[in-house]
This record gives sequence, structure tokens and C-alpha cells, in this order.
Amino acid sequence: MKNEPQSISFALFLKQVNFMILVTGGTGLVGSHLLVKLMQKGEKVRAIYRSQASLEKCKKVFLAYNCRELFEQIEWKKANLTDYFSLADQMQGITHVYHAAAVVSFSSKDANNMMKVNVEGTTHLVNLCLENEVEKLCYVSSVAALGSYPSKKCTDEEAIWQKEKHTSDYSVSKYYAENEVWRASQEGLKVVIVNPATIIGFGDWEESSSAIIKRVADGLSYYPTGSNGFVGVTDVVDCMLKLMHAKIENERFILVSENLKFKTLFDYIADAFDKRRPRLKVSINVAKIALIVDQVKAFITGGKAILTPQTLRTSFRKKCFTANKISQLLGYEFTPIEEVVKDASRFYKESA
Ligand SMILES: NC(=O)c1ccc[n+]([C@@H]2O[C@H](COP(=O)([O-])OP(=O)(O)OC[C@H]3O[C@@H](n4cnc5c(N)ncnc54)[C@H](OP(=O)(O)O)[C@@H]3O)[C@@H](O)[C@H]2O)c1
Repeated sequence: MKNEPQSISFALFLKQVNFMILVTGGTGLVGSHLLVKLMQKGEKVRAIYRSQASLEKCKKVFLAYNCRELFEQIEWKKANLTDYFSLADQMQGITHVYHAAAVVSFSSKDANNMMKVNVEGTTHLVNLCLENEVEKLCYVSSVAALGSYPSKKCTDEEAIWQKEKHTSDYSVSKYYAENEVWRASQEGLKVVIVNPATIIGFGDWEESSSAIIKRVADGLSYYPTGSNGFVGVTDVVDCMLKLMHAKIENERFILVSENLKFKTLFDYIADAFDKRRPRLKVSINVAKIALIVDQVKAFITGGKAILTPQTLRTSFRKKCFTANKISQLLGYEFTPIEEVVKDASRFYKESA
């Protein structure tokens, strides 16, 4: 009996020594900042990647934080979410998983790929977590997997998703992917889910939400009239780490710092990059013409259209989200978006 406390702490010690984390999406916006934080904390991390080019993008984020040597300490393994066996090979010894990989797109061309990667890929991963008795999974979902209220009340974690006429393929894929995570939680996997609003931060500014920063930093004279929720990438990552370490399981949390008009966000970005603020309010009809011109241009050049019917609709909607749940539970305070934008712009300028 006397020895029991000692043996318990030894068991705990052993568990800590064997703590091994798997990160998916480590070459993306969220994943690269997550890897920096995990490595700075001295965690043992395995991360999956698909191409050398993507690895270079992640390395840039480590360079921006002045910790290139930590990038070299990550155990990088080539794997694809859509290939069950390539993923299965990476599960050996894994105790905790952060799943941040997904295809983020509002183009209908990517619909099938999003179902494959976001839904099937998540199915593969959660099944492997169950098979390998992983202790806990943190899944990066999205506010796109949540519903909205008919009244002006802001969306919270209880808002039930419903497919509507203009629901994006991305939203459908994130909703079904989240369902796979809930299913796994019913089968015994401990999970925490974060549902971030639009994420702002330093990353590859041709990709994901960082493209907004590039558009305005390149000089944009017009702005749409909608509004949306925004959150800094560092806050997203901090919340993921806190939730993973807290005794919280099978819960989801909206992550949003502020609900802002696009005009306000664009002004913050223009100020941070010393550009003139956008001054022309664009009407939905003018935007529709711009959409057609952009799509014809993309068709002729074989390039990617910047505007899609979905991004256009989003730009004119007034969306609002609340992060009361995580703020109350963890006492978490989000960084104001103006500060997030200033920070990101500093990194972009330094790494240009
Ligand atoms: N950005 C936002 O505003 C936002 C808002 C809410 C929620 N989210 C969610 O946050 C998560 C991270 O988004 P993000 O902005 O960091 O996206 P991102 O920058 O586009 O990164 C996506 C990551 O997923 C990886 N990936 C894509 N297809 C894959 C596949 N078949 N197998 C393995 N990995 C694959 C990419 O790898 P490669 O580098 O090889 O392409 C990349 O590492 C996603 O789940 C997204 O839905 C994002």
C-alpha cells in the first residue's frame, strides 16, 4: 500500500515519456502555427506531409518565429488522408492527434475532392484513432459546420446545421466530417472539436483565408457590405492546446475574436500594409458582373477564379458568432483582430 502513490506517479511518468503527437495539416495555416507551439513546448511530434513544396511553406513559418532548428526535430512522414494505409503506417505509438488537414475551397470544382479528403479522410483518421487506442483527438472543424438562428441571435454551439439552397460544398463536407468525429466519440474516442470563424494569420497568402490579406495588401479599392466572424491563428492554436490538456471531452467550441464588417477588416489590413483604405462600396449587382468577368478570365487563361458564387454570397451576408462557451469555461481572452492583422503584416513584410 505504502508504495502505491509512487507506482502511480511512475505510471504517469511513463505515460508522459510515451506522449507522442500526430499532426495532420501541418503544412497549412493552422497546422504550421500549431507545430511551432508544440515544438516550442518540447513535445514529441510526428507530422504528415504530401510534398516538399508544402514543407518549405511550413519551414517559412518556423523561420518567421526564429526557430528553424525546431522544424528539423519534427518527424515528418509522407501520407495522404485519402490513402488509409499510408495513414495507418503513421499511427504507431501515437497517443494524441491534432487533425487540421482539409481542403478549404469555395469553388464547385473542388466539391468531390472535399468529400474525399474532408469526410473520407476524417473517417480514416478517427477509425485509426479507435483501432490504435489514441487517448484524445482535437479536430479542427469550422463555423461552416454549424447552423444559424432565424433571429438576429449570433450562432452558438447549439445552432443546428441544415442544408439550404446555397449551402457551400465546403460546409457540407465539414458538417459530415464533424459527424464522423462525433460517431467516433460514441465509440469511445475522447474528442474536442474547435469551430473557428475565418482565421487570420501569417501563412501562404495564396492559400486558404490568408488570400484575403493578399487581396487587400495588393491594393483594393472596393469593399462588400457584409460582415463575418474572425479569429487570429495564434488564438486558434492556443485554444486547441488548452482543450487538449483540459479534462474536457466530447464538446465543441466556437473560436471567434470579433464579428466585423469586411470594410473594417479591409481597413485594418490596408493600414497595416500602408495602403489606401478601400473606399468604393460595391453593390451585389456590380459584384455579380465582376464574378462573371473573373470566371471568364479564369476559363480563358486556365487559371483559378478568385471570385466564386459562394464567396460573393458570403461577402454580402451579415454573419455573427459567439465564443461565450470557451471564454466562460477557460476564461480565454481573444486577441483583437486589429492586433492580429498588424502581427501578420509584420511577418509578411519580414519574410518578403
Ligand atoms: N482558414 C480558415 O479561415 C478556416 C476557418 C475555419 C476552419 N478552418 C479549418 O481549419 C483547418 C485548417 O485550415 P487551414 O486554413 O490551415 O488550411 P490550409 O492552409 O489550406 O491547409 C490545409 C492543410 O491540409 C492538408 N491537406 C489537404 N489535403 C490533404 C490530403 N489529401 N491529405 C493530407 N493532408 C492534406 C494540406 O497539405 P498540403 O500542404 O500538402 O496541401 C495542408 O497542410 C481545416 O480543417 C479548415 O477546414 C479553416
